[in-house]
Amino acid sequence: MQSKRINMMNKNFKRTLITSALPYANGPVHIGHLAGVYVPADIYARYLRLKGEEVLFIGGSDEHGVPIALKAKAEGVTPQQVVDRYHTIIKKSFEDFGISFDIYSRTSSDIHKKTAADFFRTLYDKGEFVEQTSEQYYDEEAHQFLADRYITGKCPHCGAERAYGDQCEACGTSLSPLDLLEPKSAISGSVPVLKETKHWYLPLDKHEAWLKKWILDDHKEWKSNVYGQCKSWLDMGLQPRAVSRDLNWGVPVPVEGAEGKVLYVWFDAPIGYISNTIEVCGAQPEKYGDWEKWWKDELTKLVHFIGKDNIVFHCIVFPAMLKADGSYILPENVPANEFLNLESDKISTSRNHAVWLNEYLNEFPDKQDVLRYVLTANAPETKDNDFTWKDFQARNNNELVAILGNFVNRVLVLTHKFFEGKVPARTAPTDYDQQTLDEFASVKRELEANLETFRFRDALKEAMNLARIGNKYLADTEPWKLVKTDMARTATILNIALQITANLAIAFEPFLPFSSNKIKQLIGTSDLHWAQLGAADLLPVNHQLNEPTLLFEKIEDEAIARQVQKLG
Ligand code: MF3
Ligand code: ZN
Repeated sequence: MQSKRINMMNKNFKRTLITSALPYANGPVHIGHLAGVYVPADIYARYLRLKGEEVLFIGGSDEHGVPIALKAKAEGVTPQQVVDRYHTIIKKSFEDFGISFDIYSRTSSDIHKKTAADFFRTLYDKGEFVEQTSEQYYDEEAHQFLADRYITGKCPHCGAERAYGDQCEACGTSLSPLDLLEPKSAISGSVPVLKETKHWYLPLDKHEAWLKKWILDDHKEWKSNVYGQCKSWLDMGLQPRAVSRDLNWGVPVPVEGAEGKVLYVWFDAPIGYISNTIEVCGAQPEKYGDWEKWWKDELTKLVHFIGKDNIVFHCIVFPAMLKADGSYILPENVPANEFLNLESDKISTSRNHAVWLNEYLNEFPDKQDVLRYVLTANAPETKDNDFTWKDFQARNNNELVAILGNFVNRVLVLTHKFFEGKVPARTAPTDYDQQTLDEFASVKRELEANLETFRFRDALKEAMNLARIGNKYLADTEPWKLVKTDMARTATILNIALQITANLAIAFEPFLPFSSNKIKQLIGTSDLHWAQLGAADLLPVNHQLNEPTLLFEKIEDEAIARQVQKLG
């Protein structure tokens, strides 16, 4: 703990560049994506912005790779048509859920193709790649080399029948096509032959020494699931990795004699973070400044939000690419999450065992924050976790409705009833009043400590504690009884309860942006910053409040039963 602190305090970062994994544009996004990557990244981005820090939050679609090309073939459309369709759907889902990207772009853009090609070319010119000819599987019927998922076969580790050329999904082992037993082409089903082809490799073995020091010695503060996975890769020893493929969908390899070859999707995709930075800075230079300050200034803190299947690419491969170029910073942290299951079963696209974001909003319009809340409260931060509809209902009814919503509603209703909706004056606060206000300061400290270290579940609990403090305060002071005998004391209590309400709008903004806005609208304020959290003078005396409406509503058993049934 001591060394962690020193490490974090050493650097006085000036700005934060937040990236979130670029989802493949071959399907809509589901709750697993939201819980693992986008909600945590959004909480962090909103928190830093609320503190007035300089932040850039990058998102975008990952539009290359074999699965997209295969899907296009299966549907008889072009890969571009596939990604156009899903990019639009995904982008809209993120907007609907309030994921506050500064840009959500895509890797089929011209800016990206140029940025990725230039990046490759720089490394190529510096002699950072190893060129190697080897024998690879070739489909003689389709006249095509079979990379990654173009080839299937039996897994040499677990014997599963339909393992892919890059991975066995049954046992999780990463594979190369030559490892597969009984290989078969995914295009024609024919048995492939071996044929020579030339590719470029990033010699990770040459990067091993500095990677070991950088991660294992200098980043002991990384989450233990991330650190552990890196350590086991580094302990096994790193091998050169091919960064090109024989495919016709992707960014063409920008050197002579590379016809029919494109950059490997995992080479071009993370460069998408850079391309998207270039794009947004080019579009709004007065707001974001020059793109290079985000990527080439040591005072920029780079943080990658990802799921656990992306750890090796973000902690080892991409840093090696950045280092090979030599002009880029490296990530300061990679707070990867584990996976979210659904009703005790793996989320699966092919079995349609998933809650798709677009469908969720059809069923529960305007309940974005409920899902954001449940996914954060139950986030797979340290281990795989389970989403159940019962838990969703319980957290909505027992926490959002009964604690947060109830408190805000009671305060507003009482103020309207007793003081015509105007903030009443506070006189002579008691020790108990003061004690209640003091509790805020300690909750704020905890909230910040958790947010800064990516412990968003705990942070959310602290925010909820503020609402609990509010409820307890009302229950203890009973202003609805006091009003009959002591108007001045009633005024003081409701003044304090209203200050608590304004505080809740601040504390919940990173987590529940829609509800936070609604609270602000109800209390008639717009502009609140993190620095004001804990203050007892956010709403001036006589300030007019708006008519109360409910923040959250109860979810009935039928609605939940319908969702469970839908999963089959
Ligand atoms: N598309 C990948 C996935 O869904 C993530 C790519 S992240 C990036 O697993 F770094 F490559 F952009
Ligand atoms: Zn296997």
